Amino acid sequence: MLLCCWVDWAHNLRPVTENLYPTIDELEVENRLVLVRVDLNVPITNDFQITDFSRLQRILPTLQELSARRARIVLMSHFGRPKGRKVTDLSLSFLGEPLSYLMGGVKIAFAPDCIGNAAEAAANAATPGTITLLENLRFHKGEEENDPNFSAKLASVGEVYVNDAFSVSHRSHASVVGVPALLPHAAGRSMQGELESLSRVLRNPAKPVMAIIGGAKISTKLGLLGNLSEHVDVLAIGGGMANTLLYASGFEVGISICEPEMVDEARHILERARKNSCEVLLPIDVATVPNGEVDTPPQVVSINEMPRNSAILDIGPKSSELLARRLETCKTLVWNGPLGLFETPPFDASTNFLAGQAAMMTELGTLTSIAGGGDTLAALNRANVSSSFTYISTAGGAFLEWLEGKILPGVEALQN
Ligand code: 3PG
Repeated sequence: MLLCCWVDWAHNLRPVTENLYPTIDELEVENRLVLVRVDLNVPITNDFQITDFSRLQRILPTLQELSARRARIVLMSHFGRPKGRKVTDLSLSFLGEPLSYLMGGVKIAFAPDCIGNAAEAAANAATPGTITLLENLRFHKGEEENDPNFSAKLASVGEVYVNDAFSVSHRSHASVVGVPALLPHAAGRSMQGELESLSRVLRNPAKPVMAIIGGAKISTKLGLLGNLSEHVDVLAIGGGMANTLLYASGFEVGISICEPEMVDEARHILERARKNSCEVLLPIDVATVPNGEVDTPPQVVSINEMPRNSAILDIGPKSSELLARRLETCKTLVWNGPLGLFETPPFDASTNFLAGQAAMMTELGTLTSIAGGGDTLAALNRANVSSSFTYISTAGGAFLEWLEGKILPGVEALQN
């Protein structure tokens, strides 16, 4: 049993409860069919080339260990959001080859369905140490609906259950909460690593704490921003969501991404931050393009001089400098969401610059840096600084909910 001291970070950093969850050390796996819930929801190009391997790499320790312990591994995952329909482009079949390569050539059998005869036949044919990959769980409505019948069918494919997908543990789906209720269960090494690292680093963070929050929409991170403003000293906001806050503060944002319907909530966040003496840093200058044409050279303007027909695609150099100088005074950084359109240079400039600063400070030992979220991970990988950060979570939504202080259903299911 692993003792994990959970800290309700959103409530004054107090330990609220101590939780026990089993790890794979406690599972009898030899010659048994081990259903491993992984997150193979990896970013790909139109021709199925994986653009970031982090999620695959993080599950290797569990798979290698289970394989060495002669388990008959059965992988289950979702991919995309097919909403209960079979969508050919969202098949997991393309992942067998790269996974096999990463596993040093271990053969990976593919079952064209995750339940029923196809799944059971493929699993039963498996020999110790091998891997069988089941088709996309979300081709069945029962997965997202957490349908007990679907959970029972999934559970009947294996004998024991391992959750190695922290990044999907905020979903009350059948493969996350239904199956562990039916089988002996445990956390895999990646899951264990995420929980231990996040708890350790954020249990008692060195102050001042700065949060950098980016990404497109404020509506998806409303709860997070509100909570963070109570517990961090500096809240730096970039990306599309900064536009909504700028708009709510009376600035022109032209044709940029903006959620005018969120203006009241945006003002409420700013007011809450002010009451909590949390300093909110919004862009003071921005990189823009006329008519939103990303191919045109950017024009950097002060936020007071934003042209009406232009779109903001990154925060400007003065804003980046401001954030970097403030970061120098901080001891802990929590980062979620890129500051600009990082996939399209030169609109990755601010994200790369801040990533470099945070990496340098971490290497010098003056900063503890934590980042999470698919885009953030990709942006830090592109900036070539991932290995310098103290810890990077592979999770997006789950990382945010964990930061908000929520108990994740997938983690709770392992404790029962
Ligand atoms: C993610 O990419 O964050 C996880 O795979 C969860 O995906 P979802 O948001 O579609 O549930």
